[in-house]
Amino acid sequence: MTATSFPESKTVVLTGAASPRGIGRASAHHLAELGWNIGIIDLDEAAAQAVAAEIAEQHGVQAAGAGANVADEAQVRAAFDALEAALPQLVALVNLAGVASPVPYLEVSADEWKRVIDINLNGVHYTTRRAVESMVSNGVGRVVSLSSVSAQRGGGTFSKTAYSAAKAGVIGFTRSVARELGHDGITVNAISPGPIDTDIMGGTLTEERKAAMAADGVLPRIGTPRDIAAAIAYLISEDAGFVTGQTLNVDGGLYMH
Ligand SMILES: NC(=O)c1ccc[n+]([C@@H]2O[C@H](COP(=O)([O-])OP(=O)(O)OC[C@H]3O[C@@H](n4cnc5c(N)ncnc54)[C@H](O)[C@@H]3O)[C@@H](O)[C@H]2O)c1
Repeated sequence: MTATSFPESKTVVLTGAASPRGIGRASAHHLAELGWNIGIIDLDEAAAQAVAAEIAEQHGVQAAGAGANVADEAQVRAAFDALEAALPQLVALVNLAGVASPVPYLEVSADEWKRVIDINLNGVHYTTRRAVESMVSNGVGRVVSLSSVSAQRGGGTFSKTAYSAAKAGVIGFTRSVARELGHDGITVNAISPGPIDTDIMGGTLTEERKAAMAADGVLPRIGTPRDIAAAIAYLISEDAGFVTGQTLNVDGGLYMH
């Protein structure tokens, strides 16, 4: 069995790519530089469309944005329908939409637990399920989802148990979907970042917080959105067609196993 090659013109859909200093927006720019057409799904439709417009203008690729809460399956499906109608063949999905949850376990409410699992785990399922339906009929596809070092080390960063549980779920989900869809030409992988310099951990990080977060790792710094963008670019590339079910740790050596 040989691998199905990528089409001449290909699209990647990224969820959670509208926040100005986030990993998603930086990744969308990086992938557009590499020639990918870009679809963006984020909570705020206007923000998603603004990032898409900025990408199309700066990189000369096709780009479109749609609004959806990833925890709402009907909204997710409608957003994919709109993006697929506007853009070339969907080849890759990158699941970046996510929320932090610094609530200690003994204080976590039923609502907070449900919110975090709904967005960080069920959201990955809803988007993946819709995207792979198209990929299976095309015979080729790539899915990458963002987990976290906190899933592997049991927290120890900003977020606590609800987040760790959801992000650990992403790793199990990734392995299982990889196994089920390998024969359909689809690879499914996760990236597990250590602390990255974005605003998700309760606002912009001070130099002091960055130094404290870096202290645990092997490399003397925290990560940048570009560190993650480069890993995404590899895992969704045509060349990564023999890599599936993996979790790539991009964490400065925080977690080794
Ligand atoms: N920054 C880190 O240190 C770090 C570490 C490990 C994992 N991650 C993961 O990387 C991903 C990106 O995080 P980031 O640091 O860029 O954060 P960010 O807050 O900058 O970006 C998160 C994005 O997700 C969107 N979003 C949130 N809830 C949504 C929903 N219900 N539906 C649709 N979109 C929604 C937000 O609008 C935002 O654009 C997240 O999944 C996060 O858990 C981040």
